Amino acid sequence: ALERTLSIIKPDAVAKNVIGQIYSRFEGAGLRIIASRMAHLSKSEAEAFYAVHKERPFFKDLVSFMISGPVMIQVLEGEDAIAMNRRLMGATDPKKADAGTIRADFADSIDANAVHGSDAAETAAVEIAFFFAGMNLYSR
Ligand code: CMP
Repeated sequence: ALERTLSIIKPDAVAKNVIGQIYSRFEGAGLRIIASRMAHLSKSEAEAFYAVHKERPFFKDLVSFMISGPVMIQVLEGEDAIAMNRRLMGATDPKKADAGTIRADFADSIDANAVHGSDAAETAAVEIAFFFAGMNLYSR
């Protein structure tokens, strides 16, 4: 089905100057970028975005990493966009990510893992609404 998913290029990948290389992978897989903006998240924004992980042991490190520099946030649209983006990203832990995936090629650790992508349709809707008002999505 035609889907939308939220993608974040994390501070490590922005610092490595690979936004364009990552966008090329989205486009090469047939995903369209229908919204994007750069932001340096505040602590409260990062905590709210990752609220589902609040009780996890890695929450504090995750939040401090996500506010360590600017991020690039985008909405991707396409056939099975959620699963396609997850395939392109590879496993959360870059050591376990398949060769040729974004995390295998650009990520250094499970925290500095280059990209975030929504994991299901329900979370995609919530995550897209968190960063973009509907009027700022430019679907074909
Ligand atoms: P992301 O897809 O952004 O969602 C939550 C993030 O927490 C995840 O990517 C990782 O960068 C980070 N994280 C750190 N440790 C873990 C862990 N043990 N399991 C899952 N995510 C982790």
